[in-house]
Amino acid sequence: MRFVVTGAAGFIGSTLCDRLLADGHDVLGVDSFTDYYARRIKVHNIRDALQHPAFQLLEADLVTATLTSAVSEAGGVFHLAAQPGVRQSWGEEFSVYVRDGILATQRVLEACRTARVPRVVYASSSSVYGNAESLPVAEDAPLRPISPYGISKHAGEELCRAYGDGFGMEVVVLRYFTVYGPRQRPDMAFHRFIKSALTGRSIDVYGDGSQTRDFTYVDDAVAGTTAAMDRGLPGAVYNLGGGARWAVRDILDAIQTIAGKPLVLQHLEAQLGDVAHTAADTTKARRELGFAPEMDVVSGLARQAQSLSDRLRNGLLD
Ligand code: NAD
Ligand code: UGA
Repeated sequence: MRFVVTGAAGFIGSTLCDRLLADGHDVLGVDSFTDYYARRIKVHNIRDALQHPAFQLLEADLVTATLTSAVSEAGGVFHLAAQPGVRQSWGEEFSVYVRDGILATQRVLEACRTARVPRVVYASSSSVYGNAESLPVAEDAPLRPISPYGISKHAGEELCRAYGDGFGMEVVVLRYFTVYGPRQRPDMAFHRFIKSALTGRSIDVYGDGSQTRDFTYVDDAVAGTTAAMDRGLPGAVYNLGGGARWAVRDILDAIQTIAGKPLVLQHLEAQLGDVAHTAADTTKARRELGFAPEMDVVSGLARQAQSLSDRLRNGLLD
């Protein structure tokens, strides 16, 4: 099968490409290498894929490129490209979220409609729930995002629904819960925490560290993503969460153990747009996708620390 992956050079997209290639598929990866973080990191993410004969990279901006021919032969499109990041989405930056999150999604859906692509899988986010009334949160809970980023993901979901309802397209929406592991984006917590631990710099902790997240290892998120392409129900929404809720302060303790030396913590104000807690009810994903996350957070953290320390040694990170 030939698949298109948007956001192919990013954290989750590049890991998805590697999985699809290993499973014997042809992959066309699309990415514009936005400057949210360094191009060399993204190039490194796809270095193995680029060596693979079944991989092709299209460096293109989804907002301006002609996409129909790129998606025309695809058995499915995984749409992961977007402007991510919760806390940075206020102020002038929001226009980037509208552009790369909402407009790009509409253009991908339009191209898939024109080219009659059999199925689209859209990467949404736990941030669409906002501060959920009860946890774990199921897919039919009210959506009240509290960050502009969450609103951009909600809008992306609604576009998927409208194209599905309006044109009979098969679109499956996935709500990822804070994904971590090798290649994690440099703005995200584990990356920042581990890097500071390795380099002896101080760690910014937002609030008192009691906030919790249902952290999800990237390979588990990717397994749920390929399962959604294979057997997700058209129009369905699925939570993909790792299955264990951790407080940020407990994560810091685990990193201290891995680093083998005390961390230097700097407590800052809680950040506007950050929800207090997340926890995914994955009953539906388990039942309909066979989703079964395997990685425990301590082992996953250790793998991310190993990969980050290799990247630091190779001069890939400042
Ligand atoms: P990432 O920034 O590492 O990857 C996104 C990629 O999309 C980047 O390589 C970027 O260059 C590309 N891109 C952005 N705009 C583009 C455009 N207009 N045209 C072409 N390429 C473009 O982010 P990630 O963490 O891998 O996230 C992937 C997706 O998953 C995003 O849609 C994000 O909202 C969603 N998500 C991520 C998490 C998480 O914890 N990482 C959680 C929930 C949802
Ligand atoms: C992550 C992703 O960045 C979003 O793209 C995604 O949509 C979201 O998950 C999701 O699940 O929907 P976030 O949960 O904020 O967002 O992930 P991290 O950046 O890893 O932060 C986790 C926690 O650590 C947050 O409570 C944050 O406040 C805290 N944190 C983060 C710090 O205390 N210090 C930091 O330097 C960074």
